[in-house]
Amino acid sequence: MLSAADNELLTQVNPGTAMHALMRSYWIPVLRSERLEAGGAPVKVRLIGEDFVAYRSPDGTVGLVDERCPHRCASMSIARNEEGGLRCIYHGWKYDQDGSLIEAPTEQVAHRKALMKRVKLGAYSAHEAGGMIWVYLGPKDSAPPFPAFEFTGLAPDQIDIKIAILPFNWLQNLESVLDSAHLGYLHRSSVELAMTDNAKQNAQNWEVDSAPKLEFEDTPFGVREAAIRNRADGSSDVRLREVVAPFYAFLPGTEGNERSIVIAVPIDDNNSLQIHVTYNPFRAFKSGEVEKIWFYTHEDKNDISDPAPGPLGWPQDREAMKNGHFSGITNRHVFYEDFAVLQSMGPVVDRRFEHLSSSDMTLVRFRKGMLQALKDIDDGRNPWGRPENPADYAEIRTRVIDVPAGESWRAIAQPA
Ligand code: FES
Ligand SMILES: [Fe+2]
Repeated sequence: MLSAADNELLTQVNPGTAMHALMRSYWIPVLRSERLEAGGAPVKVRLIGEDFVAYRSPDGTVGLVDERCPHRCASMSIARNEEGGLRCIYHGWKYDQDGSLIEAPTEQVAHRKALMKRVKLGAYSAHEAGGMIWVYLGPKDSAPPFPAFEFTGLAPDQIDIKIAILPFNWLQNLESVLDSAHLGYLHRSSVELAMTDNAKQNAQNWEVDSAPKLEFEDTPFGVREAAIRNRADGSSDVRLREVVAPFYAFLPGTEGNERSIVIAVPIDDNNSLQIHVTYNPFRAFKSGEVEKIWFYTHEDKNDISDPAPGPLGWPQDREAMKNGHFSGITNRHVFYEDFAVLQSMGPVVDRRFEHLSSSDMTLVRFRKGMLQALKDIDDGRNPWGRPENPADYAEIRTRVIDVPAGESWRAIAQPA
């Protein structure tokens, strides 16, 4: 459980909240690169309760500006995307990528200079890497180093990005991936549809031991979870997972195969993005391979959510449940089972009503870290996940290690 006050601190992200200020201190991934066409339509982006538009200039550079034109508040999502900036279609005022007003044709010539000095469109830092557009919403000169994760250095054919736009809070979204205990229950039937090595391995693990012992270690980026399964001979199978503040969860996989990261980005208090990064650091994906990993998934990669018809998610097939299907959410990728359960909790879970168990310790650890980060930013300190020394993000990955009897995983796991 969590106090009402702490729950509010962690979940509320709209302007004026502490989390809003904290989120403005990180780089945030927002769109798949392909969404932005050079010289094409700007795309609306809502983040931490504020509205922006992202666009790609005819020369290919990416910009992010406030949605509202500072003249009379027309949406810049319908602006002309011209060489050198966006031109509002209402009165033709034009703004460059820094948000400076560079043309104001409806103002009398004598007053134009003064107007152009006075009026500015909010503009923010944007960066393109790993098949995504990332933005930084804090002051331009205080941007932290870009988190150059392993996948951001790979070729496009080694990366698959899928985004789901979901009707619930970002923390609820992230906590579903910090909770591995549900794998053997919620996904028990759907995981059988997954034919990849990673999926099979996960299923086997949960059959062997559905309640591994969890231990933790702080890293410069967040926290590392070790899920320990002891064998009869005293050795153990240890799966290390990385959680990177403020919203990244690296999913445990198997050595030598594709890797994946889930990113839970706050849109506003009641909505969030779930970004799935699937990448293979060793080679390009073969034809059909991504489809095999992502079976029964909605084809629109910019929003795979495929909204469920009711407040409680998709209708369950009760007949299939009687015949052994665990969740009744049939013929869908495992993530739709998560979406359904998360949606069933309501837009923001009231965590006063929870009764957590030992399998929930990862999310408890994460909440603690984020509450501390809120204090840090308030006190002017570098928050969690923003190391003083830009440490090596490319080295962050989950691992499976075999720990001989009598030894500790901490000694074997190399530090991130
Ligand atoms: S509202 Fe944009 S130029 Fe007038
Ligand atoms: Fe899940």
